[in-house]
Amino acid sequence: MITLLNKHSEAKLWRPPHAKPLNGSEGRLLAIIKFIRNPLEGFNANVYNKGITQHGLLSVKMHVVTNSKAANTILKKKAVNFRKSELNQRIMEPATKQGLIVVHGEQWKAQRRTIAPIFQQKHLKTQSLHISEALKEFIGNMGENNELDLATAMTKLTFNVLAKTLLGDPKGVDREKLGRAAYTAVSEAGTLRIDDFLPRPKWLPRLLSLKGYLALKTMRTAADQLLLERKEQREVDDLVGLLSHSVDPRTKRSLTLKEQRDNLIGFFIVGHETSALALTWALYLIGSHPGTQQRILDEIQDVLGDEDVKFEHISQLKFVNAVLNESLRLFPPIPIVGREAIVDTQVLDTVVRKDAIVVIPLYVMHRSSVYWDNPNSFDPDRFLRQPKLGRNALQFKPFGDGPRVCIGASLAIIEAVMAIVTIVRKFEIHIECENLKPQVTASLRPSCDIKVSFTKRKC
Ligand code: HEM
Repeated sequence: MITLLNKHSEAKLWRPPHAKPLNGSEGRLLAIIKFIRNPLEGFNANVYNKGITQHGLLSVKMHVVTNSKAANTILKKKAVNFRKSELNQRIMEPATKQGLIVVHGEQWKAQRRTIAPIFQQKHLKTQSLHISEALKEFIGNMGENNELDLATAMTKLTFNVLAKTLLGDPKGVDREKLGRAAYTAVSEAGTLRIDDFLPRPKWLPRLLSLKGYLALKTMRTAADQLLLERKEQREVDDLVGLLSHSVDPRTKRSLTLKEQRDNLIGFFIVGHETSALALTWALYLIGSHPGTQQRILDEIQDVLGDEDVKFEHISQLKFVNAVLNESLRLFPPIPIVGREAIVDTQVLDTVVRKDAIVVIPLYVMHRSSVYWDNPNSFDPDRFLRQPKLGRNALQFKPFGDGPRVCIGASLAIIEAVMAIVTIVRKFEIHIECENLKPQVTASLRPSCDIKVSFTKRKC
């Protein structure tokens, strides 16, 4: 039985760390420095309250949109009037130039039609078996008492999950080397830099360090090798195998080898970083809040008894899903999405002109008092009191919305729920962490190490 926490038990609610907005007394220079260091601390109170505001940073002028209807118009209703922003392109292109996350127009449509079936329920059920194996290995490698950095531990775990689900647990590939390469590629590709805000001709590629180029080369070589191997095999259930055999249902054409490779790398980079962060933040919240940990244990007992967690259990674990949603609300791993207008477009009472940049800080929308009671408090029960919040709410978009909504969302949710259940059931979690803040690089990372101890529960 789930015990619902009443909306009025506000006094009991805990406020996890928050990247606080500008208070208005900072000068323009300090505001710019704050924005560049951590964009979430560079927004002012107007951004939280007004819905659509206009800003300038170096050469970049932008509309910042936190009104949920306006965000829905841009991402969904009038999605054809917008394209992914130049900044997104610039950051992701070196790693995945021909991948779904970067391409546009007809190429994007054909890729989306070809790739979407890979993430359908029937395949996800098979992926859940691979996830379960990776979780058993994770648990098996842990001692009685383990003191770790939480983000590092979750990065390793999600790497192993992706190695099994995406790459089919490749034998001929040096996992350690690939892991290091993926980490370097994510850090290089996924970190905003000051020169990203400077004017630059479109033909000039974003420069990476030598380490970054070498990491990408390692990933490309491994991806090419795997795709070639899988092409020869008929019985395939990992994502790389499904990708190498998939065809566009409309044209019956496959993706080119380069498109397949860039998508594989794109899935790896995006899927790895976001899933690791989703789990890091969720376990940080759970480990900091013993009451939540106990309620999860109670639910596991009710729903699973002594069984291992399986695909069929995911939707029955209502409280675990609510905790995950609350974590994705407070700490969305992709905290900001961006678009550029292709044509002049009316968005509420603002005309967004052709070529204008639109920034949608999901982090701010998720914490605006316009939409949420106690917006900065940890209150997973809000998703139980209002079950529709988790599915259809305009103000809750951790996976984006519209045609370019995250293609891996269901896989990510299955992985996160199974990981939370497996870890909480086996270990008591304690967090020791002060001065932590959510910090935007391109994703939402913790600003410092989160010291965690996983202590084996006495059965
Ligand atoms: C908790 C984990 C995840 C979060 C929070 C997340 C979030 C997002 C968001 C917000 C977008 C939309 C970006 C935009 O509109 O500009 C997106 C797109 C995308 N995501 Fe995820 N994601 C997660 C996991 C994954 C996984 C596991 C994969 C693949 C294995 C994946 C692959 C993609 C791809 C390929 C796109 C681009 C889709 C397109 O443009 O058609 N994501 N994700």
